[in-house]
Amino acid sequence: MILGIETSCDETAAAVVDPAGRVVSNVVASQKVHELYHGVVPEIASREHVKVLPPVVRKALEEAGVGLHEVKGIAVTAGPGLVGALLVGVTTAKGLALGLARPFLGVNHLEGHVLSPFLEDPDLAPPVLVLVASGGHTLLVRVDALDRLQIVGRTRDDAAGEAFDKVSVLLGRGYPGGATIERLAAEGDPNAFAFPRAWLEEGSFDFSFSGIKTAVRLAVDRDPARREEPAARDVAASFQAAMIEVLVEKTIRAALGVGVPAVAVAGGVAANRTLRRAFEEACRESRLRLVVPRLEYCGDNAAMIAWAGKLRLDRGERSDFDLDADANLPLGAMPNRAPRRSKRARPPRRRPAGPRSSRGSSRGR
Ligand code: KG4
Ligand code: ZN
Repeated sequence: MILGIETSCDETAAAVVDPAGRVVSNVVASQKVHELYHGVVPEIASREHVKVLPPVVRKALEEAGVGLHEVKGIAVTAGPGLVGALLVGVTTAKGLALGLARPFLGVNHLEGHVLSPFLEDPDLAPPVLVLVASGGHTLLVRVDALDRLQIVGRTRDDAAGEAFDKVSVLLGRGYPGGATIERLAAEGDPNAFAFPRAWLEEGSFDFSFSGIKTAVRLAVDRDPARREEPAARDVAASFQAAMIEVLVEKTIRAALGVGVPAVAVAGGVAANRTLRRAFEEACRESRLRLVVPRLEYCGDNAAMIAWAGKLRLDRGERSDFDLDADANLPLGAMPNRAPRRSKRARPPRRRPAGPRSSRGSSRGR
């Protein structure tokens, strides 16, 4: 049994994956307190994780019907994310690993998202092009094997979910905004406003979403009544249509461009039903296989971390007790050390005095 822990942003999550790779529990506590501030307040997020993580871990074990002694390894998000929030998960994982004398492993949050479609559908086999669209990231990743991930496109400014969140705040609907915009858009006219689509240079699979957000701001500043319904429905629907067109079109172009037969969509934005339908239609037309994970694997969750961590733990990878949380951990740079033969956890090592480089020990793949 592998216990997964995820605390990179404002979801406190724990999950258990069995030896066959099946998710046997998946508990997520979303921090509501940030709604007051129209965005995640890092310090508050850390404090909430400290309060909520122990009962969330307990619940994940209870739901799995597993005692702590049955946990054979611990996988924890080590980055990217909010450093204080990450540290809560990382230190908890270290404490459990030390107390239980079990191995633990720092997992890249983005790798968790990228691999979540493979958790959803065990028949999905690489090569696959995966769109990760969340509140903090928007990436196109070519997966040639479960341990060979290559970024082929990324946002140059805002993440897709961030654009939904900002437009929601512009319309006075608060944070987080994805689901709110989707609801508002359901009754609006997607052709009411011609918001810009940033296609960027010919052949580029990168994204840019800052222009569309500015266009929405100008539209509502020009006529404040557009913040109210019914006009706000048209603003939301037109914004959502522009976002979806670019996300779908770029992903399909990239899949055809790099020559893969399958596409997958992951991250919180993949919860959007209109986006899912648009992907279904576009993939049917282009004869590409499509996998979109169920909703609980789209947003931040620990099942994807436990699952991605299990793959690496099964390969013999381990983290040391000097594992650091890394707010900017890039996809492909794992915070872990070389595979170790001993499966036993090692006691903390004394760190030499002086400045340290958190990347000095990273291994690229
Ligand atoms: O993956 P996630 O839970 O957390 C991050 O790693 O960021 O993604 C959260 C993001 C938020 O920006 C939220 O507004 C967006 O996903 N989101 C949606 C929808 N549900 C959540 N965006 C569009 N439509 C939705 N239905
Ligand atoms: Zn995420």
